[in-house]
Amino acid sequence: IYYNEQYRDQYHFSLKEGWANDPNGLVYYNGKYHLFFQFYDDLQWGPMHWAHAISTDLLHWKEFPIALYPDANGAMFSGSIVADIHNDSGLFKSDKGGLIAFISVDGNGQRVKLAYSEDEGITWTKLDKIIVDWTEDELKSIDFRDPKVFHWENKWFMVVAGGPLRLYSSDNLIDWEPESNYPDIDTECPDLYPIKADDGKIKWVLSRGGRYYKVGDLRKVNGKWTYLPDDEYKTKDGLMNFGKDSYAAMTYYIQDFGTEANPTLPDIIELNWMNCWDDYAKIAAKKLEQDFNGTFNLNLKLDLKKEGDTYLLMQSPIKKYEELRITSEMKQWDNVTITKNNDLLNDFKGEKYEIIATFYPSKSTEKVGFRTRVGNDEETLIYYDVINEKIVIDRSKSGKMLSDIFKIVDSQAMKLNADGSIDMHIFVDRASVEVFAQDNTIIGANVIYPSLNSLGTSVFVEGEEVKANITIYPLKGIWE
Ligand code: FRU
Repeated sequence: IYYNEQYRDQYHFSLKEGWANDPNGLVYYNGKYHLFFQFYDDLQWGPMHWAHAISTDLLHWKEFPIALYPDANGAMFSGSIVADIHNDSGLFKSDKGGLIAFISVDGNGQRVKLAYSEDEGITWTKLDKIIVDWTEDELKSIDFRDPKVFHWENKWFMVVAGGPLRLYSSDNLIDWEPESNYPDIDTECPDLYPIKADDGKIKWVLSRGGRYYKVGDLRKVNGKWTYLPDDEYKTKDGLMNFGKDSYAAMTYYIQDFGTEANPTLPDIIELNWMNCWDDYAKIAAKKLEQDFNGTFNLNLKLDLKKEGDTYLLMQSPIKKYEELRITSEMKQWDNVTITKNNDLLNDFKGEKYEIIATFYPSKSTEKVGFRTRVGNDEETLIYYDVINEKIVIDRSKSGKMLSDIFKIVDSQAMKLNADGSIDMHIFVDRASVEVFAQDNTIIGANVIYPSLNSLGTSVFVEGEEVKANITIYPLKGIWE
């Protein structure tokens, strides 16, 4: 019965049973990807644990025993893990080091604690000592959680927030020094990482919970390490996801980022919790009569491209997903004309598939896109609104409506590409849709709860017909 429930995504990871929210402690170590996540053994949020799953390909996962339990100090809120492969901390018996987790402990204020593991994350020893707490920097803000640790310029760094952002540094992962703080940058689950942009420059992306981002530099100013957003990002942020169901992003700790002179930048891979804190998420499991509530979005590879003076974040599904394509059942059309009453996809039925499309609208095209998971009075629309220049996911008739907020249609302003086209890459799963547009700089994710037999798909246009290239791949599930 598990993994085949009516509202269980078939190629996105979800926990078997219970509640999950933020991804925690994402780390690649000895050939394995570790995904820890906020967990409670119930259908709703409660005293937080860290649960644990392991994968070798980021597609297929196996759950392991709960890694961290709440204790007398409080609940185990979100945090990160690094591989201390040179035993900088001195905590490990072996020179080869091990894994170190930085955990927010929530209980009578918030503070960061540390736990270490000598057996690849299966068992953990908590250090009694508090590593850093909210009283230690000038801001004295009691919201002090979600530490994310990385290594750069031969130093360890930690961003921590929950309220305002702070940056700390350390040589040994145990003693931490405040470097700088940002009263105006308020966020949960901060993340900070370098990416070599398409112009060859190393730029630092600051993610605010996977919802918003800034691009800038990480530099010493008056002897203190400081994050300096580019002019374009000083007062406003880029949007990371226009759909509601993508939050608390974290990137994998894969290796030391190296130094400015000698960077060793790995691919940056990010994962979000496919949900949000709106009313419907909290009640979903009960309303849907299922034993789990916690799914994660597609794994995304992050890149930066420069447009004019602005660096834009590209979030692309990792290549690995191509291995799920059932190529023998692929359908493809080149330069096909999409008319109002087309029956192009009449024969195509599916609950899990991928669509790659480019449309060439004319001046009098009004809307163009796809109807997915179509059934009796059910459909989820993903389209471009040419008149209002925006991309839209409309789940207001997608199936079970969990609340009024659930019905709200999500959209983001978007221009046509420079050549007048629109590109859309869509992933449909049993209980979600994700869309990537404009070279993966605009993305949206929504959960949906359609009937199992709502399997129809169509391409639609309003106003004048369009030319299109469309490829569809049915996808294999990961649970089989
Ligand atoms: C984000 C968050 C974090 C916190 C965790 C608690 O979703 O609120 O800030 O650490 O969830 O579960």
